[in-house]
Amino acid sequence: MTERTAHGTPDEAPESAHGGVSRRHLLGLFGAGAAGVAAGAVGGAAVVAATAGGAQAVSGSGAEQYPFFGTHQAGITTPAQDRLHFAAFDVADSLDRDGLIELLTEWTDAAARLTQGLEVAEGGAVGGSDVAPPVDTGEALGLPAAGLTITFGFGPGLFEDADGVDRFGIAARRPAELVDLPRFQGDALVPQYTGGDLCIQACADDPQVAVHAIRNLSRIAFGRASLRWSQLGFGRTSSTSTAQATPRNLFGFKDGTANIKAEERDALGEHVWAAPDDGPAWMAGGSYLVARRIRMIIENWDRVQLGEQEMLVGRSKGEGAPLSGGTEFTEPDFEATGAAGQPLIDTAAHVKLAHPTQNGGARMLRRGYNFVDGNDALGRLDAGLFFLSFQRSPQQFIDVQRSLAADGLNEYLKHVGSAIFAVPGGVAEGEFVGQRLFA
Ligand code: HEM
Repeated sequence: MTERTAHGTPDEAPESAHGGVSRRHLLGLFGAGAAGVAAGAVGGAAVVAATAGGAQAVSGSGAEQYPFFGTHQAGITTPAQDRLHFAAFDVADSLDRDGLIELLTEWTDAAARLTQGLEVAEGGAVGGSDVAPPVDTGEALGLPAAGLTITFGFGPGLFEDADGVDRFGIAARRPAELVDLPRFQGDALVPQYTGGDLCIQACADDPQVAVHAIRNLSRIAFGRASLRWSQLGFGRTSSTSTAQATPRNLFGFKDGTANIKAEERDALGEHVWAAPDDGPAWMAGGSYLVARRIRMIIENWDRVQLGEQEMLVGRSKGEGAPLSGGTEFTEPDFEATGAAGQPLIDTAAHVKLAHPTQNGGARMLRRGYNFVDGNDALGRLDAGLFFLSFQRSPQQFIDVQRSLAADGLNEYLKHVGSAIFAVPGGVAEGEFVGQRLFA
């Protein structure tokens, strides 16, 4: 990366010809320092070890910095940051194979810089020509990397457009499973939150840093790919590391207790990472990303008695313990019965229906966020959970979502958006994201 980023070397002159200041130098001035917790960690294994162990100790300082390059893309097992800006793009009709490769190369270069707390390109917001628009939009000047990760995905439409045309010569390499998700019972999908040829998931502990990333990457794509829809999220609704406390969703329940964590290496291999012989070789080390914009009818939920809320989830609201007993991390016992012989965990409880025992052993890595996007015409908050999950095969999500057709929570939920993306494996230095797809 250092060859590509004149501002990326520690001993460079930070002042630009125009008196501009690099984002990294500002960090130094403000005392935040740019020696991220993961400095020197390049491979996926090192990333997990460095981040899972150190994230809590420095959390809130904004100094977290995760390597962009590695075995797997960052932003999957990375300890879930507090903020999200997710964007889905449509590629322009005029884009050809070389143009797509060029875009992915430019996105890779920009993401490698942004995740290290640098401006999107050399020259930045104030270091370029006075008679040209600045290359960086500037709102992240002075802000640290804030744990920013940028994760790229490819939608089914990239491989074959709506008319079945293979515009980029990659249709033969489309994983057979990368097709639009089937329609699920209760789906109320709207086009403005559905689909996309490409996606970028930007997660950070500072919303301005996440938004700056999506804004600048969208700007780079101008004329080649345009925003189809995007979603801001706050308050992560999962933990992806045992070092993290379990957060709460907008129903007020702990969410992420039984999630796959970065430390569960065997489970990641079994349920999250695509293996070389799962499908096309370019997907090895990658994963499939499902995004669902789930509206929560919180005004109705807030009128539900505590006991019923807990019955619907299958866990206590305070501790997050299964209703069969124990504490938060006790395994639920679906056979346990009460004095009258009734199951302690209701047969339609969310945790029962979503549990691997009900779904042929399927698990997934959940990485969603809360959202509140103003209100609707009835004065109800447009609020919910922007569900994101990573799995080795889309079938894992499909099986669990089908099983959730009987979920008692559905009375308070409405799935309004849906998308699926193939997330290629990690990027090596000197490569662009997804390069093996085009080899
Ligand atoms: C707004 C909608 C949803 C809410 C409020 C919600 C809430 C919860 C809560 C409170 C838990 C228990 C704590 C935990 O283990 O994380 C949980 C578990 C889980 N949820 Fe959801 N969830 C929602 C949607 C979904 C969807 C769409 C799926 C997948 C299709 C899903 C899959 C799971 C899984 C796999 C578990 C862990 C089950 C286990 O192994 O015990 N959830 N969810």
